[in-house]
Amino acid sequence: MALHIIDHPLVQHKLSIMRDKETSTMKFRELLQEISMLMGYEVTRDMPLTYEEIETPLMKMSAPKIAGKKVVVVPILRAGLGMIDGLMKLIPSARVGHIGLYRDEETCQPVFYYYKMPANKDRAVILTDPMLATGGSACDAIARLKADGFERIRLMCLVASPQGVKAVEEKYPDVDVYVAAVDEGLNDKNYILPGLGDAGDRIFGTK
Ligand code: PRP
Ligand code: URA
Repeated sequence: MALHIIDHPLVQHKLSIMRDKETSTMKFRELLQEISMLMGYEVTRDMPLTYEEIETPLMKMSAPKIAGKKVVVVPILRAGLGMIDGLMKLIPSARVGHIGLYRDEETCQPVFYYYKMPANKDRAVILTDPMLATGGSACDAIARLKADGFERIRLMCLVASPQGVKAVEEKYPDVDVYVAAVDEGLNDKNYILPGLGDAGDRIFGTK
């Protein structure tokens, strides 16, 4: 597995504002969308190109274009939804799948409730979830995608714990992980420290 830490100053600055407990729901959501677009730039860096003959006002040229338009963005509900608008601005033709999972408050195990993906399994998947804590939810989502026949999977998170990164790395060495930060660890309730709190609650204002 390759771990890509996106340490661009704009990403880091915006993430710091998101972490601040005084940041409003509106601002949090806006920043998550902006960061997702900036991270999307890196997540799509190695998209294959094809060359097409075009004519500029001055001459003909062989111009690079994205080869095919076969991406599916897959948010892990709920919080992953906050990352898709930024990505969709970059890749407007992408399809959108959905995986519904929540973490049981007592056991911290993922509970599955929804799965809907496009039929074409050749699409490259960008799986989104702001938080990679124990890694249970991400691993469950990846397992379901693989069982369904999707093979090219990238995971895009905002904040990860070292434990979450390790869990994905050990189970799915073929999945590249993109994060803005790997934090110190987890507390006794498996929340990321220092983290940013409950991402779903902060995006949707449900606390
Ligand atoms: C959060 C987060 C991840 C999961 C991470 O979702 O968005 O999906 O927890 O924890 P893990 O790595 O230990 O599995 P949550 O269960 O709060 O659901 P929500 O997005 O619906 O609020
Ligand atoms: N889920 C969150 O939203 N935040 C954490 O820190 C851990 C799991």
